[in-house]
Amino acid sequence: MSKRYTITAALPYTNGPIHIGHMAGVYVPSDIYARYLRLKGKDVLFICGSDEHGVAISMKAKKEGITPKEVIDKYHSIIKDSFDAFGISFDYYGRTSSEVHHQTAQEFFKIMHNNDCFETQTTEQLYDAQEDQFLADRYVVGTCPKCQNPEAYGDQCESCGSSLNATDLIDPKSALSGETPSLKTTTHWYLPLNRYEDFLRKWILEEHQSDWKPNVLGQVKSWLDDGLKPRAVTRDLSWGIPVPVAGGENKVLYVWFDAPIGYISATKEWALQEGKDWKPYWQDKETELVHFIGKDNIVFHCVIFPSVLKAMGTYVLPTNVPANEFLNLEGQKLSTSKNWAVWLHEYLEDFPEKQDVLRYVLTANAPETKDNDFTWHDFQTRNNSELVAIFGNFVNRVMVLMKKYYEGVVPNPSALTVEDNATLEALKESPNIISTLLEQYKFRAASQEMMQLARIGNKYLAEEEPWKLIKTAPERVATIMHTAIQVVAGLAILCEPFMPKTANTLRNMLNLGNLVGWNDVGNKALISGGHVLGKTALLFEKIEDDAIAAQLEKLKA
Ligand code: MF3
Ligand code: ZN
Repeated sequence: MSKRYTITAALPYTNGPIHIGHMAGVYVPSDIYARYLRLKGKDVLFICGSDEHGVAISMKAKKEGITPKEVIDKYHSIIKDSFDAFGISFDYYGRTSSEVHHQTAQEFFKIMHNNDCFETQTTEQLYDAQEDQFLADRYVVGTCPKCQNPEAYGDQCESCGSSLNATDLIDPKSALSGETPSLKTTTHWYLPLNRYEDFLRKWILEEHQSDWKPNVLGQVKSWLDDGLKPRAVTRDLSWGIPVPVAGGENKVLYVWFDAPIGYISATKEWALQEGKDWKPYWQDKETELVHFIGKDNIVFHCVIFPSVLKAMGTYVLPTNVPANEFLNLEGQKLSTSKNWAVWLHEYLEDFPEKQDVLRYVLTANAPETKDNDFTWHDFQTRNNSELVAIFGNFVNRVMVLMKKYYEGVVPNPSALTVEDNATLEALKESPNIISTLLEQYKFRAASQEMMQLARIGNKYLAEEEPWKLIKTAPERVATIMHTAIQVVAGLAILCEPFMPKTANTLRNMLNLGNLVGWNDVGNKALISGGHVLGKTALLFEKIEDDAIAAQLEKLKA
């Protein structure tokens, strides 16, 4: 395994709060991965931050009648609070409005400019005369030339995922005034992606053919097969990072040029804060760089940003970009504008203690290979029949019996039976299976393997029936309970990437301390005879029908 891991999660736009689609696609899987690697004792840097430039922000400001700065401050703190509440364990959460980021992005631009990595082009661009504003990206709406979606944006069609130029749109309209734009001449810097085609083809389609996800390879291939064109990296806007070279007056860097550099700026800020060196995390060959993103970000992380990194010369390229597909909600596309979403800050108001339930459900049903549907019914079922009936029930029964028979002091075992050995064998295998799946970014399957261990524990207890033997064969009961508590301890460790809050509660219940970790599961007794258990707490509770009905009502309102 590698020396060091730099794990990034897509920087969310601070033009609105975070919903379950963002969590399922990016933040829960990246957090599982980061937590897992830390449990394995790896050097991990998990980076994210707010994406605070771009038209999305200016549009929101206009709509709310406040300044862009007020917009980003407001949503930066809402988003950051949601991540904290859900235990997303970023080592650093930055912002692209920071001083360090502005300098870093400008430095990238200047170096590339000096090294002739850009071309300039003077072209006619869409222009809203009424608003005195060039219309790029989200400032223009029109029909997608590829799929005919009538609501495509000037930078991207959300229906078919195509990345577009504003001038590609059929029947474009200004999102500001609703008017049909006119054309006006302007000059911009372009990144000639065509120069990187061979490099990208070889690096991704050949070298990573077998370890990158098929959905990612498929999108990259179709981009390359279409032929790459120079792409503008500057804009005629006022909100953004000023273009730092002559001729750049009144222009800013394209948000997709500056945002991914935000991963690097955030690393610099983290290093400054921790008294470390940021460079190995981006420039040492033995660093694995992994970008967690949603599928609409594939081109930016697999084509554009790697071309920038390549042009800079001293940076590592991502070892993987495990992009997820989309999560739908009750059979319909999540939509901010139609308010068809489950917002994290609202979920927390209704279910203040159930962060792990949502993390678990979003993982068990993650849109890893295809778009998936979140339903409140499924949420209830996963909670009631898996977390409560299997995981919680097993843990609770073991704890209750331990208190009842031994006053919370773990007994010593005697000779093991075939059943005891089979259970311990399953416990030993579990971390290996889960590790393999996590290292292949198969988080759904990994979460099910974790639940499977609880199922095995539950079944073991049900079959051994210690409560029937306690009078006649107390020695046998001691062995059963000793075995069962090993499984509970294993679960406390193995569930941490998926359900960190539960893991913490469970560790306290077991009085487990920090001496045992992932690598110990199955390799030594996690809890020895004589160990004193802590206080039992409730891990999960049943979710009733009316709570689910209330959520469905709220959605429809
Ligand atoms: N803000 C973008 C989005 O929400 C993601 C930016 S990822 C970064 O789609 F790499 F640019 F930071
Ligand atoms: Zn389209």
